[in-house]
Amino acid sequence: MISEILQDARRYEETAEKEIAKEERPAFHLCSRVGWMNDPNGFSYYNGKYHLFYQYYPYESKWGPMHWGHAVSSDLLHWEYLPAALAPDECYDRDGCFSGSAVTLPDGRQLLVYTSVIKERQEDHVIRDIQTQSLAVGDGLNYQKYEANPVLDEKDLPEGASRFDFRDPKVWQNEDGTYSCVFGNALADGDGQVLLYGSEDGFRWTFQKVLVSNGGRFGKMWECPDFFPLDGKWVLLASPTDMLPKGFEYHNGNGSLCLIGSYDEQTKTFHEESDQAIDYGIDFYASQTTLAPDGRRIMVGWMQNWDTLPLRSPEVPWNGQMSMPRELSIRNGRLYQTPVRELDAMRCNRVVHEKVSFTGTVCLAGVSGRRVDMELNLRRKDSEALYHKFAVRFAQNDLYQTSLSFRPRESILKVDRKFSGSRRAVIHQRRCLVNSTDGSLKLRIILDRFSVEVFVNDGEHVLTATIYTEQIADGISFFADGMVEMDLVKYDLR
Ligand code: FRU
Repeated sequence: MISEILQDARRYEETAEKEIAKEERPAFHLCSRVGWMNDPNGFSYYNGKYHLFYQYYPYESKWGPMHWGHAVSSDLLHWEYLPAALAPDECYDRDGCFSGSAVTLPDGRQLLVYTSVIKERQEDHVIRDIQTQSLAVGDGLNYQKYEANPVLDEKDLPEGASRFDFRDPKVWQNEDGTYSCVFGNALADGDGQVLLYGSEDGFRWTFQKVLVSNGGRFGKMWECPDFFPLDGKWVLLASPTDMLPKGFEYHNGNGSLCLIGSYDEQTKTFHEESDQAIDYGIDFYASQTTLAPDGRRIMVGWMQNWDTLPLRSPEVPWNGQMSMPRELSIRNGRLYQTPVRELDAMRCNRVVHEKVSFTGTVCLAGVSGRRVDMELNLRRKDSEALYHKFAVRFAQNDLYQTSLSFRPRESILKVDRKFSGSRRAVIHQRRCLVNSTDGSLKLRIILDRFSVEVFVNDGEHVLTATIYTEQIADGISFFADGMVEMDLVKYDLR
């Protein structure tokens, strides 16, 4: 049965999307069908297609009572919208169906695990969210909420865990057929932790362990945790709120965190070995991964940050995009990310410039556009002093530009969208310490109408930022202070 509230949302999105021309959307990044989008949810491969659900408020381009939007794709790049999957239509989730994930059941149905939210007035008269966990079962199009919802509530929390911050289940199936799930949670003082639950059948869940305790190290509440094996290690991803910067890491307030370590599945003990941000740009949060049928671990994130929302006015017909799906790997103890290889099939109009030596500003024949895959290899020119600065400016015309600049003497790469159409005094820059010797650096820059994603040194660091300027601002130019030598390969993305 489809509730009135879900039916309304489905009718509304179908009509309202007609007002949005194809060219007003990104070409290969998923954006909200209409209205508001935040976190990716239920990212999965199910019945021959990738499914990507998302936190969704169709009626306005700002956050509201959360629904789950839904889209499917065969290649992770061309998305087809399906009708909204979940709406806040039950007494236990009337104030929102918050983030969650998906897994396939043995009988072939798909199980969605999500956070059900109701607002409740507390003794001190403050209204707060009460967060419980609920299930819905479906066929990839329609989902029925489980009659025994919510399946986890405050009674299932370990000592000291807050019922106000208990959300974002990420579920997976173990090799023995049982299910595991991690949740973001906070202690009464707001300090984050990740809780691990287990289930025989996906429906009855029991608390197993506090998998990771923040202990005040990385921000406060940890939202949207994910936990999976990768290249012989185990990786915990999370999006901590209220982070303090640490050197060149964690500058985003609401940031992204990757812990790499080992995991003893018997005792359910995670031994952390290293930490890093996932993304070093401005707009990346709430990542979620899935396993592709060929074994690749693929991650998407919400290509936005709660702190930079004023960049865009809520008057727009859609608000919110997902990042490019990225293949994950571990090399030299670090998380590496590369654009999914499916992107290669979209490349056309190859342009090559080899050993371009220059100082000052240059434009290169055939190099412009807003849907671009461009690889740059920079180095110091033999017999010349090490250059001071290199910059590539794109999405550029007389009024606008977004730039990426590199100072080899400090090894600092900076993304700057000060001149990218924002009328608000919000943060427009982010700096990142990259690996470079003697001025050499490899950059792969992906542009898709309203965003840039920069993969540094084959994915050792990634910087993501949205750019909401007119598409006629499509110039690309290069600048050097000192003599730079550069190889360039550029494709348009069809
Ligand atoms: C992260 C988040 C999640 C929550 C959702 C609500 O961006 O705050 O913790 O489930 O968004 O929309």
